[in-house]
Amino acid sequence: MTDYSLPVSVLSREAAEAEIASLAGEITRANEAYYLRDEPIMKDGEYDLCKRRLLAIEERFPELKPVDSPTGQIGAPLEETFTKVNHSAPMLSLDNAFDEQDVRDFDGRVRRFLGIGETEPIGYCAEPKIDGLSVSLTYRDGRLIRAATRGDGTTGEVVTENIRTIKSIPDQVSGAPDFMEIRGEVYMMQSDFLLLNERQREGKAKEFANPRNAAAGSLRQLDSNITRSRPLEFFVHGWGKLSSPLAAGQKKAINRLAQLGFIVNPLMVLCDDPDQLLAHYAVLEQRRDTLGYEIDGVVYKVNDIELQKRLGSSSTAPRWAIAHKFPAETAWTRLEAIEIQVGRTGALSPVAKLQPVSVGGVLVSNATLHNEDYIAGRGRDGVEIRDGKDLRVGDRVKIYRAGDVIPKVADVDIEKRPKNAVPFEFPDICPACQSKALRPESDAVRRCTGGLACPAQVLERLKHLVSKQALNIEGLGNKQIEGFHSEKLIVEPADVFKLETVIGSGENRLADRPGWGEVSASNLFREIKESRRVSFPRFLFSLGIRHVGEVVAERIARHYVEWKVFSAAIFKAQEMEGSAWEELNSIEGIGIIIAESLVAAFANPDTRKAIERLAQELEIVRYEQADSSLGGLSGKSIVFTGTLTQMTRAEAKSRAQALGARILASVSSKTDLLVAGAKSGSKRRKAESLDITILDESKWIDLLEGISNSQDGKST
Ligand code: IVH
Repeated sequence: MTDYSLPVSVLSREAAEAEIASLAGEITRANEAYYLRDEPIMKDGEYDLCKRRLLAIEERFPELKPVDSPTGQIGAPLEETFTKVNHSAPMLSLDNAFDEQDVRDFDGRVRRFLGIGETEPIGYCAEPKIDGLSVSLTYRDGRLIRAATRGDGTTGEVVTENIRTIKSIPDQVSGAPDFMEIRGEVYMMQSDFLLLNERQREGKAKEFANPRNAAAGSLRQLDSNITRSRPLEFFVHGWGKLSSPLAAGQKKAINRLAQLGFIVNPLMVLCDDPDQLLAHYAVLEQRRDTLGYEIDGVVYKVNDIELQKRLGSSSTAPRWAIAHKFPAETAWTRLEAIEIQVGRTGALSPVAKLQPVSVGGVLVSNATLHNEDYIAGRGRDGVEIRDGKDLRVGDRVKIYRAGDVIPKVADVDIEKRPKNAVPFEFPDICPACQSKALRPESDAVRRCTGGLACPAQVLERLKHLVSKQALNIEGLGNKQIEGFHSEKLIVEPADVFKLETVIGSGENRLADRPGWGEVSASNLFREIKESRRVSFPRFLFSLGIRHVGEVVAERIARHYVEWKVFSAAIFKAQEMEGSAWEELNSIEGIGIIIAESLVAAFANPDTRKAIERLAQELEIVRYEQADSSLGGLSGKSIVFTGTLTQMTRAEAKSRAQALGARILASVSSKTDLLVAGAKSGSKRRKAESLDITILDESKWIDLLEGISNSQDGKST
């Protein structure tokens, strides 16, 4: 046990020895998390405290200092932690394309959304996807005033001083918009990465796993002198908020940034169609090994910025861009076993246990097998996959891994199949609770029917609850949840928030348990406390209800605004008729399957009570538009009907949503506005009978233009 209150000067030799072991262990674990995985598990203030204490004890008892003590290594310096900042425009991610068809589909989606025919050209800009970490640089009056990491896309960490040490990032620019947020990728050259690791080895410090990790670890240094000593580079690839446009096209805008002094990737080209995009992809794939820095694909962007604006983005990625990933790395190995895991919604997922094999530099020992059909060699709709070859324990299988995606089995070598290999028999009872596992005809997945009586489902739901996209409780990972669950300290979701009362102090306290210490325990309790304030959509997502992912949770929150309103409504909707049920079904993007799943989740009294107990522990923040200054149609419920000629339905909806509107699929007394294009029929009549405002297409466009003109006046 580490008791920081005891002055070092009065420590006995035995106490010092014990404390050195415990502190060194904590610091080493924190170092590994920070440098190797870039996933800090300790706040910097505490790290600082631990390290100072260890230094002081080692100074008093030099003979007890372990040869590999973390105080002898380079680590996070003893300083304050990073400040957090909200990005003025979110830093989104990119959707992926894996093959030619995905790229053609992307072009098709763009055309459909914009209503552009096949023969009309759409220009695209194609450029390497840099395997680094994205940062946002804010310039005001030509001066770099702030730099932040991407973080979770909404909030990042301020790393301004570290960014200033990067030579290829200008501190001052002239002739730029008064305000601009520049986005790009910080990365490290492969040769510099090798040299850095050599230095790390010599200094007995931890080596980095790859250039990306090295760049991330170097940027997230509290001491910018350390960052200065690390050879970081920067490519600009975009922007966030701007006080005035840079140019009318993506490539021109990037070229203008080059004139201002930013480094632009030289392999960026303009293309007229998917064929040209694919040709550039082939060129970059060939040259990939000769570039000196790592790229993991090619990014295609609609070049015309006006079109980019019209396309807008989903909640996670822009509709005007896509990342075409390079093919996965592959390797052959032996399939040693097929294990069945039970997920949080009861899905039985087969996992391949492999003889460990290196796939593109990463050691792989598990791969997903999707479902029973996949093992049998059948794909969707009974179509053969792998030419119908099934997978058997003992087979030689080809594994592939693309980026951070879970490895998959690509192929099997039947000729090497052991003589005694037998077809795999998929279980029809749940391996965790022995309940029946059923497979509806229309479904590829077999599911355990045990519900909350199935320990595996309960455990998986708890893991989901605290995971990054849900309540995001750092320090409470799968291993910790499993431990607390097996000790019955966390049985249901609300128990997470009782943990401190139960094991915060007293005999059984967390800090005294193996693997824990004073710092990690108090960190965990603080993290749990901080997670009590949660947005409505995040909370709904964290419940792990089947079919309710982040996008659906967002749609529901957007509609009901407050958790209390939603939970009352969903209770009423149980009858599966009446106005509450109809309202749920009328939300754009919520079909009968999702509605039924939601109702079912709340219909079970035990589940419902467990959700209520959890909600009581939390402060569930009402849904707010990401940018309320854009709320020109804020909170208004709009229904679209009929044919629009000047923009597609998809674009009209996306524009309305961006202005804060809720889109409904059907007209009811709650509808504020009906936008009726040509040939509108029953919806129009219903709206008329309910006296709802009806706009024809030209009035709708006037409304949009009116709002966007008034907003231009108040931009930064
Ligand atoms: S454009 C809305 N261009 O890839 C995001 N991103 O997987 C637009 N990335 O977070 C990004 N090279 O950090 C863009 N040439 C490039 C890129 C690039 C790397 C990163 C970027 C983004 C991530 C998405």
